[in-house]
Amino acid sequence: MAGLAATIEQANADYYRADAPTMGDATYDALKQELAALEAEHPHLAAPDSPTSKVGAAPSEAFGKVTHAVRMMSLENAFSEQDVADFVARIRSFLNLSADAPLAFTAEPKIDGLSLSIRYEVGRLVQAATRGDGTTGEDVTANALHIRDLPHRLRGPHVPDLVEVRGEVYMTHADFAALNEGGEGRVFANPRNAAGGALRQLDPTVTARRPLHFFAYGWGALSQPLAPTQSGAVARLAEFGFSTNPLMRLCHSVGDLLAAWAEIEQRRATLGYDIDGVVYKLDDLGLQTRLGYRSTTPRWALAHKFPAQTAWTRLDRIEIQVGRTGALSPVARLDPVTVGGVVVSNATLHNEDYIAGRAADGAEIRGGVDIREGDWVRVFRAGDVIPKLDAVDLDRRPEGSAPYAFPETCPACGSEALREPGDAVRRCTGGLACPAQAIEKLRHFVSRAAFDIEGLGSRQVEAFYNAGWIAEPADIFALAERRADLLSTPGYGEKSVTALLAGIEARRVIPLDRLIFALGIRHVGEQAARLLARRFHDWHSFVAAVDAAHDEDTDAWRDLTAIEGVGSVMARSLTTSFAQETERAAIDRLVAQLTDIVPVEAPKTEGSPIAGLTVVFTGTLEKMTRAEAKVRAEAMGAKVAGSVSARTDLVVAGPGAGSKAKKAAELGVRVIDEDEWLTIAQG
Ligand code: IVH
Repeated sequence: MAGLAATIEQANADYYRADAPTMGDATYDALKQELAALEAEHPHLAAPDSPTSKVGAAPSEAFGKVTHAVRMMSLENAFSEQDVADFVARIRSFLNLSADAPLAFTAEPKIDGLSLSIRYEVGRLVQAATRGDGTTGEDVTANALHIRDLPHRLRGPHVPDLVEVRGEVYMTHADFAALNEGGEGRVFANPRNAAGGALRQLDPTVTARRPLHFFAYGWGALSQPLAPTQSGAVARLAEFGFSTNPLMRLCHSVGDLLAAWAEIEQRRATLGYDIDGVVYKLDDLGLQTRLGYRSTTPRWALAHKFPAQTAWTRLDRIEIQVGRTGALSPVARLDPVTVGGVVVSNATLHNEDYIAGRAADGAEIRGGVDIREGDWVRVFRAGDVIPKLDAVDLDRRPEGSAPYAFPETCPACGSEALREPGDAVRRCTGGLACPAQAIEKLRHFVSRAAFDIEGLGSRQVEAFYNAGWIAEPADIFALAERRADLLSTPGYGEKSVTALLAGIEARRVIPLDRLIFALGIRHVGEQAARLLARRFHDWHSFVAAVDAAHDEDTDAWRDLTAIEGVGSVMARSLTTSFAQETERAAIDRLVAQLTDIVPVEAPKTEGSPIAGLTVVFTGTLEKMTRAEAKVRAEAMGAKVAGSVSARTDLVVAGPGAGSKAKKAAELGVRVIDEDEWLTIAQG
């Protein structure tokens, strides 16, 4: 029992705190059930702090702590129809209701995200906190302000003075895929971990770049009840402006509950976000109160989990794809197998360490077992996300198989493929001479957020490259000279060729941020391109700044890396790309084809009295939360810092401002009160 408890505790810490699970959900559930069963059998051996009596993991130290006014509970799990029937029977027996007395339940998807409690006072968002251990969570207010469907103010005439809304933060499959492909460095295992990583960012600007969503399904403290029923209360939350799940159903029998479960499971693959079961809740809130809670779970709710979506199949071979930045990405080609209703024939293998059974930090994954061609592997899918392999059946490993030898040369061009120290990825050194890199770079160049050329998509780019018409972006602007070739291409006619060439001509005028993004420089994503464009305004200033920053012992380097959202990794990627002769020549040839690079307007900070100033907020602000004040100040062009130093320009001190206001006075920094700040903020 102690061994089981320790294993579960470790899995909890990995899952909740590090957002890096080390154990599959089904395994975790099974271990927890086993421990609970042993504890039921031998209650005198149950540890008082057993993981079966706790929720989640204690909050980490990095964020402020929030003690929840009402504890955040977990849910009892069910895995079979019998479990569901037992649940309903227990409720009837507890309430002394006959088997045919009417009883209503809600059934709704169990969102696989992170629970969040958001406090609204007089209709205004004042605090957001993670669940933590259920009693104490982390203050993530600044980050929560960036969740797309979380209202900052509640709508409607009858909003109670205090509303604590509870629900699930999640990331959609599409946004998750874009994030993992966006090369922000870390690859997340699943949308849930990506959402956790985004929400628990110490830098809210990072959260802002990661699209998070929220479904409201419950509440904590309230100054006034919302409705007499669960379904009524959730409808009120929708009126206040929250997103609530459209699949919620009202059920009147065990049969209804199971039908709702089956319907939701059937729609699982097309929802666009992860769910891992269906939650049933007794609809009558008066009855919920009578039923009350066990140590960590309500008696009036049940989570009916879906079976894990996994399947065993044979890994036929490992193929290497070469990406835009030269990264060699291994892909498993599988004997097609159905996983959760979808046929899977490919799975990502991430990188060579992953194949060898090692994580980035050297720790073992899959118990250190490597993956070989011919192996039987277990495929798992979380919703629609790219399938992964999480186990190898060593008993079925073919005799005489050998560990996979990761190529040290590029399979597309034969150039050397190198692995930099500290980088998990091996990269082709062929640059634009490598056809795979060249095609991927061209694809990126014409993509939606880059040049977005009408009529020139991924397929056309590859065909034109293979025909020898375009080798680099500048060549696209010379396609007009190939009119005759284009006309003789199958599928093209006078009209489509004219349209294509017009589409290309139209893009000789391009906004600076799109141009920077289109260059496809590693680490420079869409958002970074926008920040750079805003900061440097025109192409020539941008190029001059990047060139000057090549020497890292210069003010130019310090200026570049001082831009919010541009770290030294991105800056170095820019300076090395621009200094690399062939790459630079290709950029110059492209720019020569453009007639106008349109500057990007910075957000209006003109006339803002605090633009460029470093501001510190301290003490209690009464009319605006500190998080809101920070967002507002940043929108007005100020930099908000957490502590007062010689570089601080302005301190906004509310009542109770202690040492920071004192330090400001000593340093001669200007200190203003909240009213003065509001005059500026409403400016
Ligand atoms: S109700 C007191 N409803 O599942 C009941 N929880 O395993 C509190 N979850 O901590 C939870 N979807 O983070 C509820 N529709 C839903 C949910 C849901 C996801 C999460 C929630 C909870 C966990 C328990």
